[in-house]
Formats: sequence, C-alpha cells, structure tokens
Amino acid sequence: MTIQALKGFKDILPDEVGVWQHIEATARGIFQRFGFTEIRVPILEKTELFARSIGEATDIVEKEMYSFTDRNGDSITMRPEGTASVLRAFIEHGLQAKLPVQRLYTIGPMFRHERPQKGRLRQFHQMSVEVLGLDHPRLDAELIAMGWLILEELGLTTSLQINSLGCPACRPAYKEALVTFLAERRAHICEDCQRRSQTNPLRVLDCKSSHCQEQYVNAPAIIDHLCPGCGEHFTQTKASLDLLAVPYAVNPFMVRGLDYYTRTTFELITDALGAQSAVGAGGRYDGLVEQLGGAKNMPGIGFAMGMERLALLLSQQNAKACPEAGTDLFVAALGEEAAVLAFPLVHLLRRKGMTVAMDLEGKSLKSQMKQADRAKARFALILGEEELAKGEAALRDMTSKEQRQVALEGPKEALCAMLIAAVAQREK
Ligand code: HAM
Repeated sequence: MTIQALKGFKDILPDEVGVWQHIEATARGIFQRFGFTEIRVPILEKTELFARSIGEATDIVEKEMYSFTDRNGDSITMRPEGTASVLRAFIEHGLQAKLPVQRLYTIGPMFRHERPQKGRLRQFHQMSVEVLGLDHPRLDAELIAMGWLILEELGLTTSLQINSLGCPACRPAYKEALVTFLAERRAHICEDCQRRSQTNPLRVLDCKSSHCQEQYVNAPAIIDHLCPGCGEHFTQTKASLDLLAVPYAVNPFMVRGLDYYTRTTFELITDALGAQSAVGAGGRYDGLVEQLGGAKNMPGIGFAMGMERLALLLSQQNAKACPEAGTDLFVAALGEEAAVLAFPLVHLLRRKGMTVAMDLEGKSLKSQMKQADRAKARFALILGEEELAKGEAALRDMTSKEQRQVALEGPKEALCAMLIAAVAQREK
C-alpha cells in the first residue's frame, strides 16, 4: 500500500508553486517598502507560550494544538500561529533596545488540528507582520492599508471589517453586560456557549451555530462600552483609514479567535471561499509583551494572511497573471562529441545568469525539440553532427521558427555573449 500525506496536510506541487512564489514575492516587496525586516522563528515552542498568549479558553489552545511530550518530558507545541513566537524572540533577544519601534515579518507553516475543508488545513502557511513599540492609531491604519495593498497588488478583491475590543479598563464592564445578556438566554444557546459564557464570554459571539447567532443579534456591542481613550483611538484609526482611502465596515461583533487582542481588530474578508472567509486578520495586542514577561507598556499590533486562501483566490479569480517561468535557451546536442562541447557551455551560460536546459541523455532531435517546447524555451541551440563538422550550430527562434547558423569556434566567452545578446534582443 502506498503512503499518503496526513489528512489536512497538503503538498504544493510544481504547477502550483509559481502562484505561491508570486504571493510571497509580492508580499516581501511590500513589507520592505513599509520598513519591515524578516525574522525566522522555530516551529516548535514550549506549550506554555501559546497557552499564555492565545489564551487557555480559546478553540486553538483547548482543541487544536499539536502538542506532545518530547523525550525530555517537556510539553512542546507545533506553533499554531506566529505572533507568540515573534514576541518571545523579541523579548528573549532584547530587540527593543536595538530599535525603539520594531517592524518584523515572518513567513512559514502553522499547525492547527481543525476539521479540514476548502481553505482550511491542518498545516497552513501564514505571512504575518508585527509592529512593537508604538500605539498611535495611524499605525493601525498604516498596517491595515499595507494588507489592503498586498491584496490590491495581487489583483484580489476583498472587504475589510474592523472593530475595537477595548482595553483592560473598559472590557470588564462590557463583559459584565454580555454575561447578563447571555444568562437571560442560557436555555437557547448551545452547550459550548453556555460553558464559554462562564469562562470566556466574548468567545460566544464567534459561535458558528446559526441558532446561537440569532440569539446574539441584539447582544451588547463592545464599541458602545469603550472608555474615552479606546473610543478616541478607534475614531482616529477610522479617520486615518479614510485618509488612506481604505474602505471598511465596522463589525461590532468581530471578536477574533485569540485572547490577546486589545483595541483595533480587523479581518480581510472574501465571499469566494465558502465558510473560510478571512484571508487575513489581526489586531492590536498592547498587553501581550508584558503578559509574556517582557517590558511593561510595550504596545504591539500585527496581522497574518493565509497563503492557501490567497492561492485559492488567485486561481479562482484568475487575477493578475503570475510571471511566466520560461527557459532562455535549450541546448540540443546530438551525439557524444556535441554533448561534450555542449555540457560545459550550458554550465558557463548558467553561471552568467541564463536559464538554460539540456537533455543530458542526448535523445533524438525530435524528442529534444519536444522538451524545448515543454520548457517554453525562447531559443534552441542545435549542435548536430553535420553542423559540428563545419564548426557551427543552428540557433532557432522557437516562436518564429527562424533559424540561423552561429560559429562555435573561437573563445567560448564570445559565443556566450552572442547567445545572451540574442535572448536580450528577443525580450525587447
Ligand atoms: P488568525 O485569524 O488565527 O490570526 O489567522 C490569520 C489568517 O490565517 C486567517 O485569516 C486565515 O487566512 C489563515 N488561517 C488560519 N487558520 C487557517 C487554517 N486552518 N487553514 C488555512 N488558513 C488558515 C492569527 O493567527 C494571528 N497570529 C494574526 C495576528 C498577527 N494578529 C496579530 N499579529
């Protein structure tokens, strides 16, 4: 019996990888324009890191983490998201001392034991950004606009929902109002919500049951309970988004699935992926650095985009084409003598930056021309026995099929320069 990949774990095959590289290159370019630098953090962390940051009473920590005891008896978890690890590294390496405001991004796989479906995997990939050391509302808008720009440059259309979750000063009063509201409806909500209304009341607003959602239509909204500081911050964030012409809708019931958020939260939403509507999401987490043992008063904000969802959308919307990968030159050598000449020539051309392919086995001309077509070669250099006897090769334009003879004699450098010039000429 053959062995297959685990459920919810997916191979990214060669014909899909171009889309992934396009997504990543687009995002990296934009991160750089906005002053972000990359940080790479481990996939495995102590379980405690996620319990303390994401929150004990969240779906992620309660039911979805890949946690195990390692050979030393320590509880280890495969990261379900990137923020906790980046903040752990920020604190551990004293990064704030190097630069008061850190703009960091990281790209890589995350692991959540969820029920797999379209756009939802157990191993998925995020491109996530974190900014530490600044709580100005203009930063919230700048970051959201950066996410928006990534989608725009990828040619994707989504909508933006924002909310404010307040802070430790105003949230307790809101929680109380919500708990009272939930207690009145206890008999009409699911068991999970009944339990959550005790352990983590905000989470109930995120319940997937339509029956529960009907009950919550008139639930108290956090934005009506914000303290003056949080109210002003939210107003300024919205005004800054207006300045950047980023359209948004306020969704007062967006609570997010992680407990660390304070103030601004946001989601970039699509209706093209069924139930998995968020292609990117994030928010502010002003108390998290302190919660993880770092500096007091160290504000932070960030977001992450799901690469599987972006790749799905790109293939569905057939948005801006990915840059076409192609081969500059296919060198077809016929016979051993030709192969011995061609083999080092191909290596030299590759060293000079050309994308060159060659059939190492020296198959028939017909087969090699088929390979050249498959490789989308712009030119083919054909070294046949007759041509070789004359010290020549044939250079064929694979689109127009025009062919001319080129001299093989003389310095290899001159031949390389001529071939590079021929490709460059064709590009114009
Ligand atoms: P999150 O909302 O859990 O936030 O995930 C962010 C994005 O990752 C989602 O919008 C979605 O596109 C993608 N995603 C999440 N789970 C899956 C899955 N099972 N399969 C495929 N894609 C998925 C966070 O993870 C926060 N760390 C974001 C953040 C960064 N907040 C502040 N900084």
